[in-house]
Amino acid sequence: MLYAFELSGEHDELPRKEILSCLRLAGFGFKEHAHLDQCLVVDIEGYVPDIDMRLTAVAERLAMSHHIVRVAGMCDVMTEDIISLAEDCDISEHIVSGSTYLVRSKRIKHYGNEVKREEIESRIGGTIYRKGYRANLRSPDVEFRLIITDRAVFGSVVASVDRSTYEQRAPHKKPFFYPGVLMPRVARALVNISEVKPGEVLLDPFSGTAGILVEAGMLSVHVIGLEVRQMIAHGARMNLEMFGANHSLLVGDACRVPLKDCSVDAIATDPPYGRSAAIKAESLHHLYLDSFSEMYRVLKKGRLAVVVSEIPVLEYATGAGFSVVDVFTQRVHRSLTRTFTVLRKDR
Ligand SMILES: C[S@@+](CC[C@H](N)C(=O)[O-])C[C@H]1O[C@@H](n2cnc3c(N)ncnc32)[C@H](O)[C@@H]1O
Repeated sequence: MLYAFELSGEHDELPRKEILSCLRLAGFGFKEHAHLDQCLVVDIEGYVPDIDMRLTAVAERLAMSHHIVRVAGMCDVMTEDIISLAEDCDISEHIVSGSTYLVRSKRIKHYGNEVKREEIESRIGGTIYRKGYRANLRSPDVEFRLIITDRAVFGSVVASVDRSTYEQRAPHKKPFFYPGVLMPRVARALVNISEVKPGEVLLDPFSGTAGILVEAGMLSVHVIGLEVRQMIAHGARMNLEMFGANHSLLVGDACRVPLKDCSVDAIATDPPYGRSAAIKAESLHHLYLDSFSEMYRVLKKGRLAVVVSEIPVLEYATGAGFSVVDVFTQRVHRSLTRTFTVLRKDR
């Protein structure tokens, strides 16, 4: 069965990677069907009511998607093609007799400017009405959604991501704030890409204010943070306590992690770049050299480390023994490009 994930446009690659990681974590058998602009369509194996239910849990983890839609059909972005699609599809797979519905549409960027949203919503609504269902604009049982991107994707919403919870955890709303933090949605995406499960242990050896650790803590992960500066470690603890994270926050050096070999299930971290955040090491080169070797040592075999950096880290990572799963970049502003590197400890 095809499911479409309506992606936030805040990054080219992160939203897609985050979804694929969460689907793997949830144990789905799936393959990518189409990667459209801000819309990922995935073919998921299994019994539809069971998939729908498990996708609700996936939506609770995701940060960079808006809605998950069970696809009724896809077509070119032309008004009459979309109406034919709505007329021809078997709507009874999406709405049971006696239930009410609402139709909403979302245009991504400039796609299908000739398709008028109000008109298409009302005409699709008309086709569903003629199949014997009643509309309810206030509290419908089923919301149908048309995503207008480089294709038109039509279906019913099975789950939505409550993005407001990330705003509530914005850095300036936490008890302790310090410049140079990642926004909660980016931090959550990193945690998701690390494929850590509830009950497992995630380490951030450069904890800072614990932005990454708070997001992992919200998923019932046991989080361990290391921070070299006492004052920041104290603030990080306040932030972790506020969100009830099951945590251990240590004052210490990422170049000498006080943990046993192969003792953590995942690593997600944002090391200092040598600009705004202070470096506590002989040089940035030594900091990266030694901390990557420590990350490799403490991570369990077969597991992932996700690192955000302003400088390329591949040499340090492979030198420490990691294999590279993925590398992608994000241009934050003219003078700042972030690199996301996903690493695995194979041996
Ligand atoms: C870019 S910040 C991390 C920001 C973090 N993601 C957050 O949400 O606040 C990097 C942090 O690493 C800390 N740091 C610098 N050198 C360190 C070292 N050798 N060991 C551990 N932490 C270190 C800095 O004090 C800084 O707080």
